Amino acid sequence: MSAVFERRSIRKFLPKPVEPEKLERILRAAFEAPSAHNRRPWEFMVITARDDREAIAGMSPYAKMTAAAAAVIVPCVNLNLGNAANDEDTWWIQDLSAATENILLQITEEGLGGVWLGWYPDKTRVTAFSQRFGLPPHIVPFSVVALGYPAGPVPKGDRFDPSKVHYGVYGSRRS
Ligand SMILES: Cc1cc2nc3c(=O)[nH]c(=O)nc-3n(C[C@H](O)[C@H](O)[C@H](O)COP(=O)(O)O)c2cc1C
Repeated sequence: MSAVFERRSIRKFLPKPVEPEKLERILRAAFEAPSAHNRRPWEFMVITARDDREAIAGMSPYAKMTAAAAAVIVPCVNLNLGNAANDEDTWWIQDLSAATENILLQITEEGLGGVWLGWYPDKTRVTAFSQRFGLPPHIVPFSVVALGYPAGPVPKGDRFDPSKVHYGVYGSRRS
């Protein structure tokens, strides 16, 4: 079964570090994501220090698990690469989403677990992270991924819903 079907959000981690070679493959996967005009407008923060992870846990009510994660990866947009001077050009949001999903899939592939935490466009979270980690104004934290070795079994399930699939004409089902 491929990582797409195995991936689930993991929020509890063993107190065990992630090997640097696994971390590098996860980052390499992020760089392989598709992007509009092939701009690849991303940069990645990798955070392992306990006090930094604890600080991130305090920046969002839904990010407590970063304190116990082995590592945190934060995909950031480089607005200079993302054509952000043009307010109507927000393709970078999709670019960064694709990179975040690639990270989650490679985490699964490595036998690890992780969870995508929403960051952008929450101004409080974006500002808190940028200030703590010294991000310049054109670098904006997009998502936060907490990862590590899962502390329990990974949930499984089939979510396929044929009622949401339309063949040719909206509402048409394949018989
Ligand atoms: C944009 C986005 C933001 C999310 N933010 C959070 C979050 O702040 N905290 C959290 O625990 N999970 C967060 N999640 C994970 C979702 O809760 C999770 O993907 C969803 O419940 C489906 O479960 P699954 O990932 O196991 O398939 C987020 C997911 C996405 C895509």
